[in-house]
Amino acid sequence: MKLPNITILDESDKRLRKKSQEVTFPLNDTQRQTINNMITYLTMSQIKETQEKYHLRAGWGLSAVQVGLLERIFVIVEEIEKETFKHYIVINPKILSHSEEKIYVGEGEGCLSVNRDVVGIVPRYARITISAYDMDGNPYEIRVREDVAIAFQHELDHLNGILFVDHINKKNPFQGKELMREI
Ligand code: NI
Repeated sequence: MKLPNITILDESDKRLRKKSQEVTFPLNDTQRQTINNMITYLTMSQIKETQEKYHLRAGWGLSAVQVGLLERIFVIVEEIEKETFKHYIVINPKILSHSEEKIYVGEGEGCLSVNRDVVGIVPRYARITISAYDMDGNPYEIRVREDVAIAFQHELDHLNGILFVDHINKKNPFQGKELMREI
Protein backbone atom coordinates (compact mmCIF):
# COMPACT_ATOMS: atom_id res chain seq x y z
CA MET A 1 0.00 0.00 0.00
CA LYS A 2 1.27 3.45 -0.88
CA LEU A 3 0.68 6.30 1.55
CA PRO A 4 -1.73 8.74 -0.12
CA ASN A 5 -0.52 12.24 -0.69
CA ILE A 6 -2.88 14.12 1.60
CA THR A 7 -2.32 16.90 4.09
CA ILE A 8 -4.48 16.85 7.18
CA LEU A 9 -5.37 20.33 8.36
CA ASP A 10 -4.44 21.35 11.89
CA GLU A 11 -7.08 22.81 14.21
CA SER A 12 -5.54 26.27 13.76
CA ASP A 13 -6.74 26.22 10.14
CA LYS A 14 -9.87 28.32 9.72
CA ARG A 15 -11.32 25.99 7.09
CA LEU A 16 -12.08 23.50 9.86
CA ARG A 17 -14.50 26.07 11.27
CA LYS A 18 -16.56 26.33 8.09
CA LYS A 19 -19.73 24.47 7.27
CA SER A 20 -19.19 22.00 4.44
CA GLN A 21 -21.43 22.03 1.36
CA GLU A 22 -23.98 19.41 0.31
CA VAL A 23 -22.65 17.06 -2.34
CA THR A 24 -24.35 16.66 -5.73
CA PHE A 25 -24.14 13.48 -7.77
CA PRO A 26 -22.45 12.03 -9.71
CA LEU A 27 -19.23 12.51 -7.77
CA ASN A 28 -16.32 14.02 -9.63
CA ASP A 29 -12.81 12.58 -9.75
CA THR A 30 -11.55 14.82 -6.94
CA GLN A 31 -14.30 13.65 -4.60
CA ARG A 32 -13.74 9.98 -5.48
CA GLN A 33 -9.98 10.29 -5.09
CA THR A 34 -10.38 12.08 -1.76
CA ILE A 35 -12.63 9.32 -0.43
CA ASN A 36 -10.22 6.60 -1.53
CA ASN A 37 -7.24 8.48 -0.11
CA MET A 38 -8.92 8.97 3.25
CA ILE A 39 -9.80 5.27 3.50
CA THR A 40 -6.28 4.20 2.57
CA TYR A 41 -4.72 6.67 5.00
CA LEU A 42 -6.91 5.56 7.91
CA THR A 43 -6.34 1.89 7.14
CA MET A 44 -2.57 2.39 7.02
CA SER A 45 -2.72 4.39 10.25
CA GLN A 46 -4.22 1.35 12.00
CA ILE A 47 -1.87 -1.30 10.62
CA LYS A 48 1.11 -1.49 12.97
CA GLU A 49 3.71 -1.90 10.25
CA THR A 50 2.64 1.06 8.10
CA GLN A 51 1.82 3.13 11.18
CA GLU A 52 5.43 2.81 12.33
CA LYS A 53 6.97 3.11 8.89
CA TYR A 54 5.23 6.41 8.14
CA HIS A 55 4.97 7.69 11.73
CA LEU A 56 1.19 7.86 11.59
CA ARG A 57 -1.19 8.53 14.43
CA ALA A 58 -3.97 5.94 14.41
CA GLY A 59 -7.29 7.37 13.31
CA TRP A 60 -10.79 5.99 12.76
CA GLY A 61 -12.36 8.74 10.80
CA LEU A 62 -11.70 11.64 8.48
CA SER A 63 -13.98 14.24 7.00
CA ALA A 64 -13.28 15.74 3.60
CA VAL A 65 -12.83 19.18 5.18
CA GLN A 66 -9.83 17.83 7.11
CA VAL A 67 -8.03 17.33 3.82
CA GLY A 68 -9.22 20.65 2.45
CA LEU A 69 -12.40 19.66 0.58
CA LEU A 70 -15.35 21.47 2.14
CA GLU A 71 -18.01 18.99 1.17
CA ARG A 72 -20.32 16.83 3.27
CA ILE A 73 -18.36 13.60 3.07
CA PHE A 74 -16.73 11.52 5.76
CA VAL A 75 -15.28 8.04 6.06
CA ILE A 76 -14.85 5.71 9.01
CA VAL A 77 -12.49 2.74 9.02
CA GLU A 78 -13.20 0.21 11.75
CA GLU A 79 -10.92 -2.71 12.55
CA ILE A 80 -13.34 -5.60 13.00
CA GLU A 81 -10.66 -8.18 13.66
CA LYS A 82 -6.89 -8.08 13.49
CA GLU A 83 -5.99 -6.14 10.34
CA THR A 84 -9.42 -6.71 8.82
CA PHE A 85 -11.24 -3.48 8.22
CA LYS A 86 -14.74 -2.36 7.53
CA HIS A 87 -15.24 1.07 6.06
CA TYR A 88 -18.17 3.41 5.90
CA ILE A 89 -18.52 6.07 3.23
CA VAL A 90 -20.98 8.70 4.34
CA ILE A 91 -22.19 11.51 2.09
CA ASN A 92 -24.78 14.19 2.98
CA PRO A 93 -25.65 12.52 6.30
CA LYS A 94 -28.68 13.45 8.39
CA ILE A 95 -29.48 12.16 11.86
CA LEU A 96 -32.93 10.56 11.78
CA SER A 97 -33.08 9.49 15.42
CA HIS A 98 -30.89 8.95 18.45
CA SER A 99 -30.97 7.19 21.79
CA GLU A 100 -31.78 8.99 24.99
CA GLU A 101 -28.72 7.44 26.51
CA LYS A 102 -25.45 9.32 26.27
CA ILE A 103 -21.93 7.95 26.43
CA TYR A 104 -18.39 9.29 26.34
CA VAL A 105 -14.91 7.96 25.70
CA GLY A 106 -13.23 7.56 29.09
CA GLU A 107 -9.73 8.18 27.78
CA GLY A 108 -10.91 11.17 25.78
CA GLU A 109 -11.67 11.58 22.09
CA GLY A 110 -8.95 12.19 19.58
CA CYS A 111 -8.83 13.85 16.20
CA LEU A 112 -6.18 13.79 13.48
CA SER A 113 -6.55 17.58 13.28
CA VAL A 114 -6.01 18.13 17.01
CA ASN A 115 -2.36 17.58 17.75
CA ARG A 116 -2.40 17.82 21.52
CA ASP A 117 -3.82 15.82 24.39
CA VAL A 118 -7.22 17.01 25.49
CA VAL A 119 -9.00 15.63 28.54
CA GLY A 120 -12.67 15.93 29.32
CA ILE A 121 -16.08 14.58 28.50
CA VAL A 122 -17.58 14.84 25.03
CA PRO A 123 -21.22 13.76 25.41
CA ARG A 124 -22.43 11.59 22.53
CA TYR A 125 -25.56 9.57 21.87
CA ALA A 126 -25.06 5.85 22.45
CA ARG A 127 -26.97 5.00 19.26
CA ILE A 128 -27.93 6.99 16.21
CA THR A 129 -29.74 6.28 12.97
CA ILE A 130 -28.69 8.32 9.98
CA SER A 131 -29.60 8.65 6.35
CA ALA A 132 -26.84 9.21 3.82
CA TYR A 133 -25.72 8.46 0.27
CA ASP A 134 -23.07 6.09 -1.03
CA MET A 135 -20.51 6.97 -3.71
CA ASP A 136 -22.99 6.15 -6.48
CA GLY A 137 -25.62 8.47 -5.06
CA ASN A 138 -27.80 5.70 -3.66
CA PRO A 139 -29.55 6.62 -0.42
CA TYR A 140 -29.24 4.33 2.61
CA GLU A 141 -29.97 4.29 6.31
CA ILE A 142 -27.72 2.93 8.98
CA ARG A 143 -27.99 2.51 12.72
CA VAL A 144 -24.70 2.62 14.61
CA ARG A 145 -23.90 2.23 18.25
CA GLU A 146 -21.20 2.65 20.86
CA ASP A 147 -17.73 3.58 19.55
CA VAL A 148 -18.88 3.64 15.92
CA ALA A 149 -21.75 5.96 16.87
CA ILE A 150 -19.23 8.26 18.55
CA ALA A 151 -17.05 8.26 15.44
CA PHE A 152 -20.06 9.15 13.28
CA GLN A 153 -21.06 12.03 15.55
CA HIS A 154 -17.48 13.29 15.70
CA GLU A 155 -17.28 13.36 11.89
CA LEU A 156 -20.76 14.85 11.51
CA ASP A 157 -19.55 17.70 13.70
CA HIS A 158 -16.63 18.31 11.33
CA LEU A 159 -19.11 18.89 8.50
CA ASN A 160 -20.57 21.73 10.57
CA GLY A 161 -17.26 23.26 11.57
CA ILE A 162 -17.31 21.80 15.07
CA LEU A 163 -14.35 20.09 16.78
CA PHE A 164 -14.67 17.68 19.70
CA VAL A 165 -12.83 20.10 21.97
CA ASP A 166 -15.74 22.53 21.58
CA HIS A 167 -17.99 20.16 23.56
CA ILE A 168 -15.74 20.05 26.61
CA ASN A 169 -16.65 22.31 29.48
CA LYS A 170 -13.52 24.45 29.95
CA LYS A 171 -14.01 25.13 33.67
CA ASN A 172 -15.03 21.59 34.55
CA PRO A 173 -13.98 19.12 31.84
CA PHE A 174 -15.68 16.23 33.61
CA GLN A 175 -19.00 17.94 34.22
CA GLY A 176 -21.99 15.66 33.76
CA LYS A 177 -19.95 12.46 34.14
CA GLU A 178 -22.59 10.84 36.33
CA LEU A 179 -25.27 11.36 33.70
CA MET A 180 -23.48 9.32 31.06
CA ARG A 181 -21.94 5.93 30.56
CA GLU A 182 -18.21 5.67 29.99
CA ILE A 183 -16.99 3.43 27.20
NI1 NI B 1 -11.72 14.72 13.98
